[in-house]
Amino acid sequence: MPLAIISGTHWGDEGKGKMVDFISQKANMVIRAQGGSNAGHTVVVEAKKYVFHLIPSGILHPGIKCILGDGMVIDPADLLQEIQFLRDNGWEESLPRLFISEKAHLVMPYHRLFDQLQESFRQSSRIGTTGRGIGPAYEDKVARWGIRAVDLLNLDTFKKKLQLVLNYKNAILEKVFQKPPLSFKEVFEQFEKYSDQLKPYIVNTLPIIYDALASHQNLVVEGAQGTMLDLDHGTYPYVTSSHPVAAGSLLGASLGPLSNIQSVGICKAYTSRVGEGPFPTECLDQTGETLREQGGEYGSTTGRPRRCGWLDGVVLKYATRINALTSLVITKLDVLGGFSKIFFCTHYRIGNQVASELPTDPFDWEIAQPVYQELEGWESDISKIQFYNDLPRATRDYIELIEDFIEIPVAILSVGQDRSSTIVRKEIF
Ligand code: IMP
Repeated sequence: MPLAIISGTHWGDEGKGKMVDFISQKANMVIRAQGGSNAGHTVVVEAKKYVFHLIPSGILHPGIKCILGDGMVIDPADLLQEIQFLRDNGWEESLPRLFISEKAHLVMPYHRLFDQLQESFRQSSRIGTTGRGIGPAYEDKVARWGIRAVDLLNLDTFKKKLQLVLNYKNAILEKVFQKPPLSFKEVFEQFEKYSDQLKPYIVNTLPIIYDALASHQNLVVEGAQGTMLDLDHGTYPYVTSSHPVAAGSLLGASLGPLSNIQSVGICKAYTSRVGEGPFPTECLDQTGETLREQGGEYGSTTGRPRRCGWLDGVVLKYATRINALTSLVITKLDVLGGFSKIFFCTHYRIGNQVASELPTDPFDWEIAQPVYQELEGWESDISKIQFYNDLPRATRDYIELIEDFIEIPVAILSVGQDRSSTIVRKEIF
């Protein structure tokens, strides 16, 4: 049963949307494992741009089942907007292929509110969240205040839970933040409507997933964000509140440690990050500006300019290990066209030490300086190239350097936004 887990190798925005769409051409099912509307996955099909925050990117392939998995936190308003977008764009047929796990948690109106209040409370130590209520929704899941998709199937249960949780949240709003309480009536009436609209999609997804496995179908598990935003394995506390690493994807997709897993890392040809936190290869000069402009590096969820820099190989090696990657995809390779020199970070200098491992201490992260290997750049536009051997020698040298550095094959290269701008060296399925 071929199973491909797709994980971002750095701080998200590696181009997973396009690659999940591309890899799932040969899949029967895509399961999104974690996160919520903090993600923004862009897919371009025949020059038309689709941005999904919740719905798996595989939805644009007729016949593929798409599951919003157990590990997700779902804002019903955002999901209904995406469902409407599919309807408005001629994808009505895709809706019976969409399933929401009963176990997924809901992002409630107070979660967005608390996201903003907590960020202001932190002042200069803010995380730089997307403001979509993700952290507070996962907090509630862990603290067992969470309201789940299954609760929308039984409004009596929902009502009781909401009453209890809202009393608690309102006490904090009023007493800690001196803010007005939320109205139970308004929230409940809003969710009654969501319940009506989302009921047809909320199911026990286990039989669907296990039937697919039993009949040897191809499954893709779509991780959102990236390795360095993982709650345990990222640059804590500047992380998201879920587990974007491959192990988290298994958990969030209700899968165990199966054999025959393809663990596919999606890595951008350079590195970017949105929000606060360490980023040793960040270029604060013209190079960073050029990467941002050429790469269109503005958040697809918040529109924030992304911080940009050269590819961080230390992080990439770490991501290779922690996700047990079996192959790598390099995206946005075309964006590097025109640089006379390319730099690849092989180590960090931390004080007097040269480090090949990531630090844990925030102070070490603060002072870590990249040690670069310098390569020749390439001038030409590579976005129309279809075969690896037609790429300029310098481009291939860059790919082969990365391959040697992490000791796994680079299976696919993306040289443009469209599905067709993709060079396959090794099939995933
Ligand atoms: P949150 O996930 O909204 O709580 O944000 C926590 C951190 O993760 C912030 O630095 C966000 O900018 C970052 N983040 C969350 N989702 C994404 C994403 O899909 N791409 C890139 N960064 C993200």
